Amino acid sequence: MTENVTRAGTPYQEAIRNNVWMHMSPHQALFKGGEAPVIVRGEGHHIFDDKGKKYLDGLAGLFTVQVGHGREEIAKAMYDQTLQLPFMPLWSYTHPQAIEVSERLASYAPGDLNRVFLTSGGGDSVESAMKLAKNYFKLVGKPGKHKIISRATAYHGTPHGALSVTSLPGLREQFAPLVPGAHKVPNTNFYRAPEPYAHDEKAFGRWAADRIGEAIEFEGADSVAAVFLEPVQNSGGCFPPPPGYFDRVREICDEYDVLLVSDETICAYGRIGDMFACNDFGYVPDIITSAKGITSGYAPLGAMIASDRLFEPFGPGGNDTFYHGYTFGGHPVACAAAMANFDVFEAEKLNDHVHENAAAFKFTLEKLKDLPIVGDVRGEGFFYGIELVKDKDSKESFTEEESERILKNFVSAKMYENGLYCRADDRGDPVIQLSPPLTVGQSEFDEMEQIIRGVLNEAWTMF
Ligand SMILES: Cc1ncc(COP(=O)(O)O)c(C=O)c1O
Repeated sequence: MTENVTRAGTPYQEAIRNNVWMHMSPHQALFKGGEAPVIVRGEGHHIFDDKGKKYLDGLAGLFTVQVGHGREEIAKAMYDQTLQLPFMPLWSYTHPQAIEVSERLASYAPGDLNRVFLTSGGGDSVESAMKLAKNYFKLVGKPGKHKIISRATAYHGTPHGALSVTSLPGLREQFAPLVPGAHKVPNTNFYRAPEPYAHDEKAFGRWAADRIGEAIEFEGADSVAAVFLEPVQNSGGCFPPPPGYFDRVREICDEYDVLLVSDETICAYGRIGDMFACNDFGYVPDIITSAKGITSGYAPLGAMIASDRLFEPFGPGGNDTFYHGYTFGGHPVACAAAMANFDVFEAEKLNDHVHENAAAFKFTLEKLKDLPIVGDVRGEGFFYGIELVKDKDSKESFTEEESERILKNFVSAKMYENGLYCRADDRGDPVIQLSPPLTVGQSEFDEMEQIIRGVLNEAWTMF
């Protein structure tokens, strides 16, 4: 059997056409001679396709493989756990791996975020946080508080609740009606900040944060339960928080008794540097939602981490039960993977590595600003977006047709062809997203910069 034939003897591409439904992916091209990339192996910060070609994993799979591919210590922990206890739910029972992971996450989390609800992914964590927010306020005598505020172009997952919090019209329209009560405020896109704030990041941050207060007042504080924000917003183009932004948001949330949910599905576990990005930016949320890097992708797992106050009605101070759960939430093998993953972080000081190398990553990527097509380079830690524009002076973006032809059909494909797996995203303004494994260093920063430079030089000739 060769590598690109199924056990039944069907060539992969034929089997894909017959039976595979990829996620968030148009399939039409596959029926017109196109091929779906098939990745068969990963090693360190590289992945390999079924034809043996090697790629630098510039996206850590999907913002996930923090410690890199092929870690024997994680595989061994999962193997041992499978033999010890392959499955046990957290429904009225628990198991040592869930206990250990919960204790460890609470030790990484700030303030009194001590209560860990394990899930099976990011969307589930967001969904769990929404339900907890609504449930909590019902139990403390504020039953009208159910609305959720989130930011323009943000992505918070695909279950119906999480999709309501997601603010990308293209992902929402087909599934309407969604969960009611989801309200949107501006994001922190400083590159395209409105004129009075365009040259003052702090004033822009204040303005953007105050839009949250305004939305709460407009909707009525007695109807708003929570604000969901990513530390660095991925979707729409990797927007870091302006200085002072989260301080002001925290103040607003406290004033109106609205929960601040830090959706760290991407930003946690070293992506920005610390185990939780709210620590990097110096704010204490009421809930952290996370997933992805918690196991570096070796197994599906997520975590919603709540403050002591939010657990109170379900714990020593009350009589209530949180009627919410997932069969696979806190799966023992996934928890074993998480523990081994955190061991790697600590043994190899990966958080320090990101903190120490973030400036070099930024400096290297910023060299791309000399290209006429690069409008902005922004991000934090090992998480960057490179925004492409048609005209640097006016910041004019691409038309839909140009975006399709240049960004999706050329830039993405060409970077891959040239050995860099990463993503060109046009759900907001067009950006190339970079989020490599946390093990990379200067030589990989240079490799990414060089490949992107070559592809963007070619793309510029395509107008
Ligand atoms: C901020 C954020 N929240 C939630 C999700 C959903 O996570 P999952 O795909 O694990 O459900 C994602 C996925 O990328 C995300 O980036």
